[in-house]
Amino acid sequence: MASSAPIGIFDSGLGGLSVVRSVHALLPHEDILYFGDSAHAPYGTKAPEEVRELSLDIARNFVDRGAKAIVIACNTATSVCVNDLRRRYPIPVIGMEPALKLACDRGQGRPQRIIVAATELTLKEQKFARLMDRFKSTHTIWPQPCPDLVEIVESGRLDEGDLVRSTISRYLSPYNLDQVDSIVLGCTHFVFFRDYFRSICPGNVAILDGNGGTARHLADRLTDSDQLNGSQEEGVIEIGNSDPSPAMIAYSKRLLDRP
Ligand code: SIN
Repeated sequence: MASSAPIGIFDSGLGGLSVVRSVHALLPHEDILYFGDSAHAPYGTKAPEEVRELSLDIARNFVDRGAKAIVIACNTATSVCVNDLRRRYPIPVIGMEPALKLACDRGQGRPQRIIVAATELTLKEQKFARLMDRFKSTHTIWPQPCPDLVEIVESGRLDEGDLVRSTISRYLSPYNLDQVDSIVLGCTHFVFFRDYFRSICPGNVAILDGNGGTARHLADRLTDSDQLNGSQEEGVIEIGNSDPSPAMIAYSKRLLDRP
């Protein structure tokens, strides 16, 4: 039966707003509760136990508010606790995954050279090791932690072009970009830097992320269980944050509206 219950989407901070955009574009009639845990960001440099505790608290809150599905719009939190949440709650729990398969498939059978930009914790967790195992015998994959990019988004310096460009260039400096096929943005914060990556890399390097795949996965799960909202009204997006200051909420709204 159609359901007007909201979808809960959370992240360590503001990166998940890029996922909210993808979900809203695909499912415009769904109400969304977004929670950014900016008071505790970044997650990517924390111990897994701490990330798990923080994530479980947020998910519990969504369930208490009647969410019909949860999207973990954070690669780090997904790596650490997607299975815990799935065991705990009988609703769809959708996580993020670095778009490595998409990057490999682009080669149509030819070996690909791929940089995966993500947080230290995402790259250290077993989930990523298993993903690498599926592809590393055929493709060359370079995991590249980029912690400062998370900090740049959280501190509102996203439009400081020189800072962003020099930070990305520093992370990409070990690679000969003419010999790279794709860069996978394996952290939802990095999606805001897509144009910067694009302008730094040669035109043949694809810049990929997992947001579209996550939104489609959510849509499929809600369609299969007949849980889509039957309303034809535009869905309401409610933005919450563990830093509830008006400045943080205003900044979140600006990110959501960013082209
Ligand atoms: C972080 O908080 O370090 C980034 C979260 C992510 O992996 O998307």
